[in-house]
Amino acid sequence: MATAFDISPEQRATQLHYFYANFSSLSRSGGLGLETARQLLDLGCKVILALRDEGEGEKGRKDLANGRDLPSGSIQVWKLDHSSYDSIVTFAERAKHLDHLDITILNAGVFKGSESFSSTGYEEGTMGDLYGTTKLLGQLFLTELSKYVSPSAVTLSCANPGFCRGSDLARETHGIVRFIYRIQSYLLSQTCAVGARTLVHAVTTLSEQAHGQYIEEAKIQLMAPIVHRPEGLHLAKQLYDETLDELSFAGARNIVAEITKSR
Ligand SMILES: NC(=O)c1ccc[n+]([C@@H]2O[C@H](COP(=O)([O-])OP(=O)(O)OC[C@H]3O[C@@H](n4cnc5c(N)ncnc54)[C@H](OP(=O)(O)O)[C@@H]3O)[C@@H](O)[C@H]2O)c1
Repeated sequence: MATAFDISPEQRATQLHYFYANFSSLSRSGGLGLETARQLLDLGCKVILALRDEGEGEKGRKDLANGRDLPSGSIQVWKLDHSSYDSIVTFAERAKHLDHLDITILNAGVFKGSESFSSTGYEEGTMGDLYGTTKLLGQLFLTELSKYVSPSAVTLSCANPGFCRGSDLARETHGIVRFIYRIQSYLLSQTCAVGARTLVHAVTTLSEQAHGQYIEEAKIQLMAPIVHRPEGLHLAKQLYDETLDELSFAGARNIVAEITKSR
């Protein structure tokens, strides 16, 4: 028997107004950010493409608009460099003037060929051992932050698109690392359009049940074993406190407290 819904698919789609994504070279097939934006546009969302290179963003805007008859302002390009606190604060201030900001997808990432640091003083690559570490830190932080933020105010989740080809993630690798990446990519990967479905599903379909959860292959999955153990809880709290201390210049604790009070 067909499930009865209280709204039409079109009404449901228009409830989703904005998301922002990060992506790179658009002369090729794009990356996960571009494919995610394309799928959200298909659902009727307006999108904001947030990049550090606005020229690349403009190419992305044209690529996404191609063949669509969209109202003006449906695809916007805003500057955002995640490696610069000033840039993040400027972006957040600008976003305050939006009527709606219903979905935010944070997918900036680089796979560096060697150790490098951003202007914040922190390591910015996800190469080798660091890759697993950065993913674990993400899970630990999400676990703790989601305790303070009600899902009815903001639903927080962490979705893994799986190994995807056709993006620029490994552009800074060389030699044997690049060779191995290419072989693995050829044998094991899926397209970015398929990977992006997991991200879109997480933010449009799973809803509040995804709060504080890790999503893979469109399902809520267990996190790394340590996250479920007592020492993981302790680590998560320590990571949360240290991160919010680092972000104290932007009033991060007050922002979390205000979100908590708002619902
Ligand atoms: N592809 C995969 O197999 C895979 C698997 C699991 C998870 N992921 C994750 O999915 C995300 C997207 O990856 P992708 O495969 O689509 O790679 P991609 O095409 O290289 O996209 C990553 C984007 O992040 C942007 N970025 C990096 N640092 C930034 C910063 N400081 N400020 C603003 N933007 C920044 C890059 O922008 P610029 O062009 O300006 O450098 C790039 O466009 C990454 O976080 C990656 O770790 C990818």
